[in-house]
Amino acid sequence: MKIIKLDAIDSTNTYLRQLSMEEKLPDFTIVTAALQTAGKGQMGTKWNAEKGKNLTFSVFKKIFCLENEEAFYMSMATSLAIYNALKHFQVPKLAIKWPNDILSENQKICGILIENVIQNSKMTAAIIGIGLNVNQTVFKVGLNASSLKKSTGVHFDLDEVMFEIAKQLKKYSHLITERSFELLKNEYESLLFRKDKPSTFKMPNGKLFMGFIQGVSEDGKLNILLEDDIMTAFDLKEIKLMY
Ligand code: BTN
Repeated sequence: MKIIKLDAIDSTNTYLRQLSMEEKLPDFTIVTAALQTAGKGQMGTKWNAEKGKNLTFSVFKKIFCLENEEAFYMSMATSLAIYNALKHFQVPKLAIKWPNDILSENQKICGILIENVIQNSKMTAAIIGIGLNVNQTVFKVGLNASSLKKSTGVHFDLDEVMFEIAKQLKKYSHLITERSFELLKNEYESLLFRKDKPSTFKMPNGKLFMGFIQGVSEDGKLNILLEDDIMTAFDLKEIKLMY
């Protein structure tokens, strides 16, 4: 496994994508940085993490067997890999918050940003960006964030955690190669935060509504059972789960 360790960079995702265009990278090439100066989060947000205390890294994963509309399986595989790596380190009360946040005790501990590499309209690779709060213990008020140290009381070796995630990522990527989609989806749905519980969602216009998370659709939308037993699929831009 090729690992590139950087002291500081704008974003490991941006760096790895650029590198993949300049040279032929081995599968599972990892770029990690002690500090990101312009870390990217989901939906155009910024990802901030204290220098040297957390894991901010990106993995180059070649993809040959996924159609573009099956891309969400890579997201499920990544969430499951991180979930299981954190379980290995006995992080308490883990859950996957759709689409791919990892929570411990209802607080976000890890964020994932996957950027697909498309060539001739076909997905050829994914840049899997992982931001895991490890030894940082102070977070902005209202962020509802946690870290491995905060939720276990233990100081972790960053490399050890990263290698466990890489190991799990290889295992779950194998399920994608095998096209074991049913298995992936079942495990992912079984770990979904607030599944089958009455939950409140907010729409972009500020309106609130109630529903029960049932699972995800093939293309990664969240299936919610609304009043009057109507099942509706929402994408990330359409709703925010209030918790
Ligand atoms: C989220 O908003 O939850 C996704 C956060 C993803 C952050 C990681 S840190 C490493 C990689 N490089 C980036 O610029 N972003 C991802």
